[in-house]
Amino acid sequence: MVWKYKDFLCIEGLTKEEIELIIETAISMKEILNRTIKKVPTLRGRTICTLFYEPSTRTRSSFELAAKYLSADTISISVSVSSVQKGESLLDTVKTLEAMGIDALIVRHNSSGVPYFLAKNLTCSVINAGDGMHEHPTQALLDVFTVFEKKKRLDNLKIAIIGDVMHSRVARSNIYAWKILGSEVKICGPSTLIPPGIEDLGVEINYDIDKVLEDADIIYILRLQLERQKKGLFPSLREYHFLFGITPERLKKAKPDVLVMHPGPMNRGVEISSEVADSIYSVINEQVRNGVVVRMALLYLLLGGGRIDETSYS
Ligand code: CP
Repeated sequence: MVWKYKDFLCIEGLTKEEIELIIETAISMKEILNRTIKKVPTLRGRTICTLFYEPSTRTRSSFELAAKYLSADTISISVSVSSVQKGESLLDTVKTLEAMGIDALIVRHNSSGVPYFLAKNLTCSVINAGDGMHEHPTQALLDVFTVFEKKKRLDNLKIAIIGDVMHSRVARSNIYAWKILGSEVKICGPSTLIPPGIEDLGVEINYDIDKVLEDADIIYILRLQLERQKKGLFPSLREYHFLFGITPERLKKAKPDVLVMHPGPMNRGVEISSEVADSIYSVINEQVRNGVVVRMALLYLLLGGGRIDETSYS
C-alpha cells in the first residue's frame, strides 16, 4: 500500500489501513532516530516550510528535526516578524513561499479549516499542524504510535480522555483515530467543557472520573486551554484540580499497567499533578520523542513516495 494523498489534513476520513501504513513507516523511522548518526538522504533536495500563526514548542521543532534527519532543507517563518505584520494576506504569504520552491508547507492556525483552504490553493503538500478547535492530526498519530509501542495493539483498548474536550483539537483527532482503529473512547470533564453532540462521534460521556479511570488502559489528560476559554466555565483552577485533576490518589484506582498521556504543554498542579506527570505510568516524554518519528514517516510518505524498503535508509 502507498500513500495516495498530496496533503495530510485530518484523521477524520482516513481508513484503518492508512493509519497502519503511517505507524508501520514510523517503526522504521524510530530505528533511524535511535542511531548515533541520525541523518539519511531520503529527502535530499526537498524543502519544507513551517508557518505557525500560534505558539508551539513540540510540533514545530519536531517537524523541523524530522525534515533535517531525512536531509530535507527547512525554513521556518515566524509570523511575528514576517510581512503578515504589514498586512500581507494568508494566501499571498503562502503563494510567496510556494513561488520560492517549497515542497511542503506545515501550517498551524487559530482558525479551523485554514489547512484545507491552503491545500486547495497550493500545489505543494500541506500538513495540518493544528487548526483552531478542529484537529491536530499528527498529535493523534504520535499518540497512537506511543500506545502501539507499549501495548502492542491498537484495537479493543479503553481510552479515557479527561478534561477540556470543548477546546481540544487533540481530543477530536484522538477520538477519530481510536474509533477508526476499533478502540473504545470515554470522555470525562466538567459539563461546561464537554461539547454538545460529541457523543455522535461514538464516544461515551461519563462525569464520574473515578469510574472512568477504573477500567481505562490509557488515561489521556487534556490541557486546560485557558487562552481559548470564555470566563466562568468552572469556578477556579483549584476546584478544577480537586474535581478532575489526575493525582497519585486518583491513579491508585486505575489498572496497574495503565498509561498516562498528555499532549503538552502541561499545566502541572491543574489537570495533572507533578507526581503523576513524572511517574512510571507517564509516557509523556516518549510521546514527544515519537512526535519526531511519526512526522518523519509522514514527510517520507508525502514527499518520498512508496512504501519503505528496509534497505533504503542505510
Ligand atoms: N502538543 C502540541 O501541539 O504541543 P506544541 O503546542 O508545543 O506544539
